[in-house]
Amino acid sequence: MLRPFRKIILTGVSKNNCRLFSLSQNYWNTNNKGLVLGVYEKEKEDGSLQFTEAGETFDRSVSGKLRELLSISGPALKKGKSRLFYGVHKEFPSVVVVGLGKTSAGVCNQENWDTGRENIRAAVSVGCRQLQDLEIPEVEVDPCGDPQSAAEGAVLGLFEYDELKQKKKTVVKTQLHGSADREAWGKGLLYAEGQNLARHLMEGPANYITPTCFAETIQKRLQSVSDKVTVHIRPKSWIEDHQMSAFLSVSKGSDEPPVFLEIQYNGSAHASLPPLVLVGKGVTFDSGGISLKPSSGMDAMRADMGGAATVCAAIVTAAALKLPLNIVGLAPLCENMPNGCANKPGDVVRAKNGKTIQIDNTDAEGRLILADALCYAHSFNPKAIVNAATLTGAMDVALGSAAAGVFTNSDWLWNHLNQASVVTGDRVWRMPLYQHYTRQVTESQLADLNNVGKYSRSGGACTAAAFLKEFVTAPHWAHLDIAGVMSNKDEVPYLRKGMSGRPTRTLVEFAARLSKDV
Ligand code: BES
Ligand code: ZN
Ligand code: MG
Repeated sequence: MLRPFRKIILTGVSKNNCRLFSLSQNYWNTNNKGLVLGVYEKEKEDGSLQFTEAGETFDRSVSGKLRELLSISGPALKKGKSRLFYGVHKEFPSVVVVGLGKTSAGVCNQENWDTGRENIRAAVSVGCRQLQDLEIPEVEVDPCGDPQSAAEGAVLGLFEYDELKQKKKTVVKTQLHGSADREAWGKGLLYAEGQNLARHLMEGPANYITPTCFAETIQKRLQSVSDKVTVHIRPKSWIEDHQMSAFLSVSKGSDEPPVFLEIQYNGSAHASLPPLVLVGKGVTFDSGGISLKPSSGMDAMRADMGGAATVCAAIVTAAALKLPLNIVGLAPLCENMPNGCANKPGDVVRAKNGKTIQIDNTDAEGRLILADALCYAHSFNPKAIVNAATLTGAMDVALGSAAAGVFTNSDWLWNHLNQASVVTGDRVWRMPLYQHYTRQVTESQLADLNNVGKYSRSGGACTAAAFLKEFVTAPHWAHLDIAGVMSNKDEVPYLRKGMSGRPTRTLVEFAARLSKDV
């Protein structure tokens, strides 16, 4: 009899792996369902554990067995940590309990986010991944008091780009556990699937995700979620007709044809209501051109279309959510390559608004393609223009992956973007648009503007923003430099390593808020 031992560790289940078994009745299960349940860090006054509502209900259904197992299996669960139990419940052979941190966690002014929601995303993602590693195909998730955040944690946490590998991770179907708010859960699924669409496009190799493939992917996804959409995949001849010479100058260094993607979502009851215009930098590969980048780490430049990916994914999501507003999405898509036709340092091009630009560094190509796209954005009588771009390495130097930098001429836009980001946890931080920087890009030997700042290294993200401002006359414009948040190592716990798809959810939440602000 094994009675004296309350825990048994079975080693060698697979190489370098072991599983902890807690003894209970012997169940025979044919179904293979997992359950993720949350537990708070703070113990109750009487010293007992504090489960979530769903956790409490579950524990009662197994006569307090889970509570007992938790307390005999180790110390109180810290936030983001998990413990796995087998055989506690007939319907759920595997139950993961995850630590949610303090019950009191909420919006934190220092962190500029909602810590409670972030804790839920992180904890749920840990639990779901643990069950995915056990190859469990069906998982029910505790809403943890916020079904939207729980759904986001599950769907974001499980994403892995293994489309091009023969060995793939188990596909896990996640469901809401219990009878909590299904609508909020569904909303969370859509937000997270939106971000995963951006991750798919950003992580995908540049020989797969070409400008044409990018545009067709968005067209397919958009048309599958709503019939209130139009998609135009504009070819090179259209770009020429629209005198987007700065954009064309970048694309001509590559054999891959450029595309100007224009999408519209008409969610407002009034078709003519001024739209929110979103513009995204879509460089599907940035070699630097003649100002060639160093080869180490250059593969990451397949994600230099992160601006286009996040704004288009946000529009797909807004359409799936049926948000009551009109949105236009614009993405200049091309490669930045160094062939015999490529831009040369010192070349001068004329943008759509007539301004001439001296190209002293061909690696500062994002601002060239955005210059033309921003000019074009004004033709939609926009309520606001928001652009996103992996624009400068300097942005990464300034803020790293903590937040996207926002350069804006509008306090109204800033407030909406900032408030949206507090909710999503995908943060933004305001950066300056001083004349000080404008002077550094408007001094050029040959042209009206220079595509690099006079003191090239200093304030690189700010001079890039000042350059873009030269193509904007709209009173409500914001530029998001997302170079720093482009990829994730381990900073965001609920995203695996790889391209992040940030800040898709913040853009969706922003659009949702704008649709309520009349
Ligand atoms: N795509 C890069 C910026 C970038 C760097 C994005 C790292 C993500 C991670 C952009 O096109 C670029 O090369 N910018 C130059 C501008 C410079 C030449 C003025 C840069 O940041 O070095
Ligand atoms: Zn670039
Ligand atoms: Mg570049």
